[in-house]
Amino acid sequence: MANGGKILVTGGAGYIGSHTVKLLQSLGLDVIVLDDLSTGRSDRVSCPLIVGSLSDRKLLERIFHEHAIDAVIHFAGSIIVEESVQFPDKYFENNVSNGLNLLDIMVENNVKKIIFSSSAAVYGEPHYVPVDEEHPKKPVNPYGETKWVFEKILRWYAQGHGLSSVSLRYFNAAGASLDASLGEDAPVVTHLISKVLRVAARQEPVVKIFGNDYKTPDGTCLRDYIHVEDLALAHHLALDKLKADSGVFYYNVGTGQGRSVAEVVNTCVEITEKMIPIEYAPRRPGDPAVLVADPTKIKTELGFVTKYSDLETIIRTAWVWHKKLVRH
Ligand code: UFG
Repeated sequence: MANGGKILVTGGAGYIGSHTVKLLQSLGLDVIVLDDLSTGRSDRVSCPLIVGSLSDRKLLERIFHEHAIDAVIHFAGSIIVEESVQFPDKYFENNVSNGLNLLDIMVENNVKKIIFSSSAAVYGEPHYVPVDEEHPKKPVNPYGETKWVFEKILRWYAQGHGLSSVSLRYFNAAGASLDASLGEDAPVVTHLISKVLRVAARQEPVVKIFGNDYKTPDGTCLRDYIHVEDLALAHHLALDKLKADSGVFYYNVGTGQGRSVAEVVNTCVEITEKMIPIEYAPRRPGDPAVLVADPTKIKTELGFVTKYSDLETIIRTAWVWHKKLVRH
């Protein structure tokens, strides 16, 4: 990284954060993590870890005084859509107010580069697919709203304070590291693949498929699953972008391929060789039928190429990791 400074990773003990930290360390970058461990785990981090919250301005001041920070990767935040509908206050506080503390301490310390974990949720119900970056932003839940608000804040901080940013709009992050050292391990499991693998491992009796009457080839929803190691790589490319250019940048991070819920379940049956009982349940409120990225921009501007995001590799790596989790 330019200036040879450190990269501060907020939320680096979480799922996507820990994979990104591992990749950056393997590339020889100097990384420190700030995480409140509300959902992350300290044993997922093998670089200096500061346990604390972005709400603690004094702590932020100390961190920025003690470390020569060159850039920030900001993962920390709350991510459960349903919870955000119930408790919007928590989402505005964690994802917006706490993020503002971070931006302000960056500005005070003349740190001018940030990579932000945004989401496909900024688009809301797609008007067309695949969804490109210029698609209207009409979030349909507080989670997506907070991500979009923060992207807009980043634009104003660019104008007012010369802050450069890359917002990465993740589609469906999935899979685990190829060496099975890291994977998804959230205290509350909501994501499809982890849910299905829990049923394969007999931790839950049945997979509920939320809706089989969508206007899709098999009636179940289509999503764009991206392997977490590919997603980690997108952050490295984003760091390089900010090394070369200043400004405000935003990219979809997906594959452009939609896979249905039924395909996911069937692939899990093949890979795990387990019986996976299913049951059709009503549609989940707020689920679009199809959510698939147009990844052209990140491919052409950052040279992003996915290596592991075929469904088989995603599920195979997730299953190896899942079996390890169950054993411990
Ligand atoms: N699904 C089921 N059964 C389950 C869990 C999920 O049928 O037990 C279905 C959902 O209805 C959806 C698909 O599987 O059709 C994927 O659901 P996930 O919960 O795994 O992921 P989402 O597509 O809902 O969410 C993702 C990100 C969010 C982001 C959202 C944008 O995880 O962070 O896309 O719309 F907000």
